[in-house]
Amino acid sequence: MTTYRAALFDLDGVIVDTAVHHFAAWRQTAAELGFTLADEDEELLKGVGRMDALRVVLHIGGVTVSEEEAVRLAAEKNARYVEAISTITPEDMLPGAREYLVELRDRGVLTALGSASRNAPMILECLEIVDLFDAVIDGSVVTEAKPNPRVFLAGAEALGVEPSACVVFEDAIAGVEAAHAGDMVAVGIGDPAVLTEADVVIPGLHAAGELAAHGIVFVGSDD
Ligand code: BG6
Ligand code: MG
Repeated sequence: MTTYRAALFDLDGVIVDTAVHHFAAWRQTAAELGFTLADEDEELLKGVGRMDALRVVLHIGGVTVSEEEAVRLAAEKNARYVEAISTITPEDMLPGAREYLVELRDRGVLTALGSASRNAPMILECLEIVDLFDAVIDGSVVTEAKPNPRVFLAGAEALGVEPSACVVFEDAIAGVEAAHAGDMVAVGIGDPAVLTEADVVIPGLHAAGELAAHGIVFVGSDD
């Protein structure tokens, strides 16, 4: 059985349910431009950096805008998003997320955040979990968007662990692809019918106890 030394976590949709606010903010952008986003479009926007997500939205609507207008639309979307999440507290963490992070760290398993979001540091502060990560790689540190593996490779590097000893937890198709492109195991968080490429899919971190049965076992420095 392979054993793993580090756990790399996506933020939105894995640790906290902010994905819904990202999508609501993009829906408003689309509405302003005169079209609607379908429910299925949400998957296309998950894990994708802010400007790339805007390009996806514009492509869906068949809309072309100037670079200046694109920057304005992205800033407007972000303002809406930041407003929506401004009241986030530790209670908004997804079930089992805090407990799993604490359990891993108690055992000396290394943890890193690998998020495309430039709002990640602020969200970690609001959730009061900054000290549960040995490294934080966010969208302002690494600008290459998932499925590019850079965000996770930078996490592994910061932890000093080989990619093959890292497990990535991801709710986005692009994030699962990024993990694999970085030679890492990908645990999908969500629906197996959507995350078809993930090595294992669990409904949330509250079900992380199922991973051992799938051969995913962490070994920490204190084990
Ligand atoms: C990812 C989300 O975590 O962050 C994407 O899944 C989002 O939907 C991306 O576009 C960038 O976030 P932000 O906060 O920098 O606009
Ligand atoms: Mg996500």
